[in-house]
Order: sequence, then structure tokens, then C-alpha cells
Amino acid sequence: MAILVTGGAGYIGSHTCVELIQAGYDIVVVDNLCNSHKEAIHRVSELTNQSFTTYHIDLMDRELLELVFAKHDIEAVIHFAGLKAVGESVERPMKYYRQNLYSTIVLCEVMEKFGVYQLIFSSSATVYGIPKQMPIDEDAPLGAINPYGRTKQMIEQMLQDLAHANPHWRISLLRYFNPVGAHESGRIGEDPGGVPNNLLPFIAQVAIGRRKEVAVFGNDYDTIDGTGVRDYIHVVDLALGHLKALSKLSESSNLQVYNLGTGRGYSVLEMIAAYEKASGRKIPYRIASRRPGDIGLCYANTAKANAELGWRTERGIDEMCRDSWRWQSMNPNGYKQEEVFAEQV
Ligand code: NAD
Ligand code: UD1
Repeated sequence: MAILVTGGAGYIGSHTCVELIQAGYDIVVVDNLCNSHKEAIHRVSELTNQSFTTYHIDLMDRELLELVFAKHDIEAVIHFAGLKAVGESVERPMKYYRQNLYSTIVLCEVMEKFGVYQLIFSSSATVYGIPKQMPIDEDAPLGAINPYGRTKQMIEQMLQDLAHANPHWRISLLRYFNPVGAHESGRIGEDPGGVPNNLLPFIAQVAIGRRKEVAVFGNDYDTIDGTGVRDYIHVVDLALGHLKALSKLSESSNLQVYNLGTGRGYSVLEMIAAYEKASGRKIPYRIASRRPGDIGLCYANTAKANAELGWRTERGIDEMCRDSWRWQSMNPNGYKQEEVFAEQV
């Protein structure tokens, strides 16, 4: 029996593959590499000393996906694959609705056809939109405010309808807060193409000298120092949350929703200071205007995941920055360097 990991070459997917293999699961990966590199898969294999099958296919290609299900005895699917850039989703909404919704529809239909009913879905705190109270618990009203977030909210709704219609389904919707950091080996990590949208990869690229300074988006929020506060979660803690969710799938009611965060927020300036400490480098920054669509404060109530999944985060802000820096300094150009080298030999 194997776990199918869609988007397994991506940032969170690759870290989860490592933890799955180390916990003794067989895995099969499907990824079209639209936002990732083959090298990430090689490194998962190297880190775990284990080979596994990866299909470079698009989830929307039903025929090929059916072949994957026909070939492997799949017991559950962890569905990371999707597009995630908020700004791009505003400019090209149909690309996001098509890719994120349609790939999930095809996946669920193929799962039903092959009698596979266990699914873990990567949702996001972004479904809460502009939250009315902090910390945010799972019952807070939803109201995503951009096309990317709305695809997540719509997929959640679709999966709820599916679970309601067919009691065989066992589905876990995991709402991630802000995943950061990297595997402690420094061999896998986040490798954003172009200018990073998210704070920590941006800070990392300033620390390594690829960018001049961090633009701090606003210092007039009602927070500890006026800068935005988020619930950053170490990607390995997040990956381990998936293993817990997987082990609880068959016991739980047929659809569950969990926040995966630490329950504690840090400001932009606190993150910059922690990164300076971890890297031993000065991180220049300047205060810029607020980013449109941003909220001041966002952190999770994690009581439900703690109690029902028996999961809690173990890595704090120092480990997040330390591991991010190790990855960044060992791979200043992400995975690309090695791929270029591989082509030359
Ligand atoms: P990522 O882009 O690194 O990984 C996604 C992977 O899916 C990539 O390897 C990409 O090539 C693949 N993919 C995309 N569309 C595909 C398709 N149609 N068929 C096959 N493969 C496809 O992103 P990530 O940060 O690892 O995020 C994983 C999931 O978690 C995404 O669904 C994302 O929306 C969600 N999420 C991420 C964050 C975050 O901050 N990273 C926060 C909340 C939720
Ligand atoms: C962003 C996405 C959100 C997604 C989340 C996790 C937007 C509007 N929202 O949210 O949908 O779920 O990432 O992937 O993009 N900041 C700076 N300078 C920077 C970058 C960020 O000051 O160069 C600040 C932001 O204003 C915010 C904090 O750092 O206060 C974190 O930003 P970011 O990493 O983009 O995460 P989110 O804003 O939570």
C-alpha cells in the first residue's frame, strides 16, 4: 500500500515525503514540475536512502492519472499540488480556478473510480480572509479575499459536499498558517522562482546578498511594533502534522478541518532580528507602505489539532531561521545550480 503525494517535488511536499519515508510509508509522487525541480526529488531520495516512483504528469491529465492508480496500490492521497501565488491569481484568475479546482476534481473522480477514499488537502489560513478575532479557530467565518484564497475555499466546500454525499470518504482539510524554514540537513528547502512574495525567503535572499534590503510593508498596524504579525510554522513540524492527520483519517468522522500553526505570532521586525542572529549577518530594511490586501495580525488557535491529532509544533523561531539560513547558504541559487551543472557533464 502506498501514499500518493501530489505536488511532492514542491516545498511542503518534499519535506513531507522525507517524513513519510522515514516513518515507513511507501510513497508515489505526481508532480508536473511547474513550480519545482527534479533535483528536489533526487535529494529526498538521497536523504532517506530510498528510491520511489515519481510521475512527471499533470493532475488534470485524467488518463495518465488513472494509469498511476492502476499501477500502484494506493491507500491515501496527500494533495499538495496547486498554484499558490496570490498576486498572479489576481492577474490571471482563470489559470488559478482551472488548475486548482479542475485538478482536484479529476483527482477525486479518479480516487472514487479506484475505491480510494482517504484524502488530505492543503488548505490555507487565507480562507479566513480578514478575521474578526484572534486567535483564529476552525469555526471562524470564511471569506477569502483573492482568487487564490477563493480556490482553496471552493475546494474545501467541494470536498465537504463530497464527504456528505458519500460516507466512504475520509477527508482532512489542513489550514496552514505561514510555513517557513527547511530540512535541518540543508539539502531541501523553499526555492521560489523570481522575486519571493513571502517574507522569510525574501529575508534569506537579502542575507545571502541576492537582494539589497527588505521592504517592510507597513509599521502602523495595531501590533507589538506596528509591523505585521504572522504565525510562522517550521515546515518539518507542518510535514509531521500530515503524518498525524493521516494516522487519524480512518478513525475520525468523514471530514475534519484543522489549523496547523504554532499558536504564536511574530512581527516582521522580530523575524528580521531572529534572522540576523541565525545568519550572523546584518539584514538592511526600510519601512514601505502597506501591501494591499494585508492584515495586521494573524495567528492560529491550534487547540483542536493538538487535542485530536495529538500533534504540536516543536521548532521555534530560532530553528526556523537557522534551518532557512542553512538551506539558503548551502544553496545560494536554490536547486538551479546543480541542474545546470548536471546538464554540463
Ligand atoms: P509549491 O509550489 O512548492 O508545491 C506545489 C507543487 O505542485 C509544485 O511542485 C508544482 O510543480 C506542483 N503542481 C502544481 N500544479 C500541478 C498540477 N496541476 N499537476 C501536478 N503537479 C502540480 O507549493 P508549497 O508551498 O509546497 O504548497 C503546497 C500546497 O500547500 C499548495 O496547495 C499551497 O496552496 C498550499 N499552501 C502553501 C502555503 C505556503 O506558504 N507555502 C500556505 C498555505 C497553503
Ligand atoms: C501570504 C499570502 C497568503 C498565503 C500566505 C502563506 C498575500 C497577500 N497573502 O500571506 O495568501 O496564504 O502568504 O503563503 O500575499 N512582508 C513584508 N515584506 C515582504 C514580504 C512580507 O513586510 O517583502 C510582511 C507582510 O506584510 C506580512 C508578513 O511579512 O505582515 C508575512 O508576509 P507573507 O510571508 O507574504 O505571508 P502572509 O502575508 O501571511
